[in-house]
Amino acid sequence: MSIIEINDENFPFVAEENEQRCVLCGHCEAVCPSLALKHHRLPAMRTICQDKLHEINPESLSEYFCSRRSIRTFLPQPVDKPILEKIFEAVRYSPTGINQQQNKWIVISKPERIRQLSCAVIDWMRTMIDAQDQLAIYLNFQVLVSSFEQGEDVICRGAGNLVIGYTDASYTGGTIDSVIATAHLELLLPSYGLGGCWAGFAMIALGYSQEVRNIVGLNESHAVRSALMVGYPKYSYAKIPYRNAAAIHWL
Ligand SMILES: Cc1cc2nc3c(=O)[nH]c(=O)nc-3n(C[C@H](O)[C@H](O)[C@H](O)COP(=O)(O)O)c2cc1C
Repeated sequence: MSIIEINDENFPFVAEENEQRCVLCGHCEAVCPSLALKHHRLPAMRTICQDKLHEINPESLSEYFCSRRSIRTFLPQPVDKPILEKIFEAVRYSPTGINQQQNKWIVISKPERIRQLSCAVIDWMRTMIDAQDQLAIYLNFQVLVSSFEQGEDVICRGAGNLVIGYTDASYTGGTIDSVIATAHLELLLPSYGLGGCWAGFAMIALGYSQEVRNIVGLNESHAVRSALMVGYPKYSYAKIPYRNAAAIHWL
């Protein structure tokens, strides 16, 4: 935000008139190698453990990224709250536009509530099919409804938990902040023996339908930005599937 200046004694300072532009990102304090700075509006910061950082090497982290897969078959048990709390403790450090930190979450862990949500999403799909909405045709809602009627939960896929990311509807940076945070969340899961899958259909229905939003206690002042099934994978993957080469235009 260009608010730090250097005085005649080569010391950094923030002029009073610039203070209101501070977004509390904490970088000024965090970057100081001699730990000399203390931001007066921020609580005490943790010091980075360099040894721990060096335990992660590019090869193993890249292999980890490539091995992440969407999980669609889960063991029935939900993930215990303390594990999810640990995960969110790391997720809250994901970047947000102008350091807004407005991400909010709903975690559903009761199987009957997840089932209720899946049913509501399917009901909404039925109304979209009846209205001959283009979205219903494009996303094959009829196939999904038929599978659901035959007993397969194609919405939440038997996951033990459903995580919903939302913000106030008025926050314009909400989608991007929440999607980044949810991607961090998904990437953290395998390190806990967990897996996830984006719940795109639930996400769309939560965006369109107040009846669906009612099930998770959200109203029109909220905007659902992401949804992720979370749980213990029933199967593991032996191979990394083919993906397109990165499309990069080097300048
Ligand atoms: C925004 C988004 C929405 C998705 N929604 C669903 C969904 O509702 N159901 C589902 O089974 N998979 C869903 N997926 C998973 C994708 O199908 C999956 O990421 C893709 O096939 C690639 O597989 P991979 O994640 O294992 O690499 C979604 C993924 C994204 C990014």
